[in-house]
Amino acid sequence: MSMNMKLGFIGTGALTSAIVTGLKSSADDSVPIVLSPRNREISIELASRYQDVRVALDNQAVLDECDTVMLAVRPQVAHDVLTELRFRRDHHVVSLIATWSREDVAALTGPAGRVTKALPIPMSAHRQGATLIYPPDPRTAAWFGALGKVIALDDAAEFDALSVVTATFAAHFKYLDTIHHWLQDHGVAEAKARDYIATLFKALANAPDTAPNADFMHLAKDYATRGGTNEQVLHALMARNVFDAFAESLDGVHRRFSSPNA
Ligand SMILES: NC(=O)c1ccc[n+]([C@@H]2O[C@H](COP(=O)([O-])OP(=O)(O)OC[C@H]3O[C@@H](n4cnc5c(N)ncnc54)[C@H](OP(=O)(O)O)[C@@H]3O)[C@@H](O)[C@H]2O)c1
Repeated sequence: MSMNMKLGFIGTGALTSAIVTGLKSSADDSVPIVLSPRNREISIELASRYQDVRVALDNQAVLDECDTVMLAVRPQVAHDVLTELRFRRDHHVVSLIATWSREDVAALTGPAGRVTKALPIPMSAHRQGATLIYPPDPRTAAWFGALGKVIALDDAAEFDALSVVTATFAAHFKYLDTIHHWLQDHGVAEAKARDYIATLFKALANAPDTAPNADFMHLAKDYATRGGTNEQVLHALMARNVFDAFAESLDGVHRRFSSPNA
């Protein structure tokens, strides 16, 4: 049996579901995929949706059938899961475990010859966004290139710093949710408010592309007319040190992402 070009996943949760969905909706969807049986509902659902996606009997069976194995379990269980598995020298391990360094993973996946870290985002399911990769690796870049942009890094410290960006998404949506609730408190229908906010912020997300050389503060100033309402909101938040608190929270996340040897 050829073991080439079969992609396995250990841990079939939200992120694996996004990656498999993205890969299977890309033009080149020929790679057979083998999933670990947990989560049961998600793995069965993916296997029933896509012809060349199968659920293995257990985690070891995924390794035995595949040459590339993506690790997508939560960090809390990763140690127990990995110590039970027998890796081969020719295995290529792609770790998606955000808070584990490449060294942490390599120590538990020996004698696997290649270990790559990758950080996709859930929007990869819709083939939007970018995946960080460390160190650069053509095969991993090809997998994730089908799901959006790939940013390959040869510096672990840079990978860790860039990873922090992915911790800010929930706060972003809380910001939009604050506006949404405020509008509803002021009598605007839920759906109408949601549509207006979503449309405006989608347009704003394109602003950096329309002014590629402008930094973000330059864009902020474009909107913050002196004495105007944008300046009023910006200054009200700055006066409460909201952005300083935000920057501090990034430091806290960075401490969790930092590689011990970086
Ligand atoms: N979600 C994201 O946006 C995101 C982004 C970047 C990186 N990551 C990383 O990706 C990893 C997975 O995140 P996630 O959001 O996909 O988490 P998740 O939805 O909780 O998925 C993890 C899956 O692992 C399964 N699992 C638990 N014990 C297992 C075992 N012994 N063997 C095999 N599978 C087992 C769980 O199954 P049960 O449901 O049956 O417990 C669960 O479905 C994490 O390390 C995280 O840091 C996530």
